[in-house]
Amino acid sequence: MKLKIAVLPGDGIGCEITEQALGVIKVVCEKFGHDLSYNKALIGASAIEAVGNPYPDTTHAICMESDAVLFGAIGHPKYDTNPTSEMRPEQGLLEMRKKLGLYANIRPVVTSPYLLFKSPLRANFIDNVDFICIRELTGGIYFGVPQGRSEDGKTAYDTCIYTTIEINRIVRLAYDYAMQRKKKLTIVDKANVLATSRLWRQVSRKIEEEYPEVETEYMFVDNAAMKILQTPKYFDVIVTENMFGDILTDEAAVITGSLGVLPSASIGTHTSVFEPIHGSYPQAAGKNIANPLGAILSAALMFEYAFKLYHEGKLIREAVNASIMASVVTEDIAKNKKFYKTSEVGQWIVNYISKRYMLKKNL
Ligand code: IPM
Ligand code: MN
Repeated sequence: MKLKIAVLPGDGIGCEITEQALGVIKVVCEKFGHDLSYNKALIGASAIEAVGNPYPDTTHAICMESDAVLFGAIGHPKYDTNPTSEMRPEQGLLEMRKKLGLYANIRPVVTSPYLLFKSPLRANFIDNVDFICIRELTGGIYFGVPQGRSEDGKTAYDTCIYTTIEINRIVRLAYDYAMQRKKKLTIVDKANVLATSRLWRQVSRKIEEEYPEVETEYMFVDNAAMKILQTPKYFDVIVTENMFGDILTDEAAVITGSLGVLPSASIGTHTSVFEPIHGSYPQAAGKNIANPLGAILSAALMFEYAFKLYHEGKLIREAVNASIMASVVTEDIAKNKKFYKTSEVGQWIVNYISKRYMLKKNL
């Protein structure tokens, strides 16, 4: 199969981790006989530095003509210290989401038995946790207009907007996922306060009627925030609006023991984007210490979601689990004093994949 991908490393540790993920993609393509071609492009702070735009048109064009986008991370502290700065790296990411129509962000939350010790939560509460969070990604308070400040600078405002079309497509997508899983959907909102949430409920209740097999539950976001940590095994598919989803998925990362291992897929009208949920971790940039597993698992999602190549995705997941079992991991998830560099973990996984496949072929 021909695979044409765009690689957008972004900022901070983005370069190091996408390099490892790309290495994994290359070896998988070699072993399965896929014809891989890729283009690298700028986004975020590095794009501002180079061309004065966090999401240059050339980058958008490369994304549009690719079958999938591998994305690293975005953000630089330089822009955080100046709250009024006109151009921010994050705008690049938001613009990409909007222009590619990436309305659904899918974040699987699955615990690994070998990482339970990293979580501050008790092991018997978090073993075998397996749910997915579906976050609406192109609407809500992230994009609502007006957004800004009054002339005297003493008032600031953001606007949360949702249309029935936006709610409809994301909730339907969530039901489709629920149908393929345990047929249980939790719709998270704040309908006791927000008008947008009340519209979510109204639209959702209509769709609910079309899926009688699915057990639907509506839950307020504050309650959901508590339940996710208290009884994570309770959940199967969660769907929620943009900002709630952003917050709940970082929270959910605590269950898995590390933000560094969680991948995500953003899908919508144009090319899908695959990225780890962690940020650009600027303090670690260039040190070869960042955890590449979130990016490598995002590559697994890329094979599965963008190319429907399930064996390839499964093999990557198997290799990642093997690296964890063999304790070939970065410091953040190391059990003992011995830990490995970003590139060593990546290389170990690449080697595993090349060997594993040869074994299979010999069978
Ligand atoms: C994420 C990030 C982004 C978001 C930031 C970098 C704009 O936190 O992908 O979760 O808030 O969506
Ligand atoms: Mn976030």
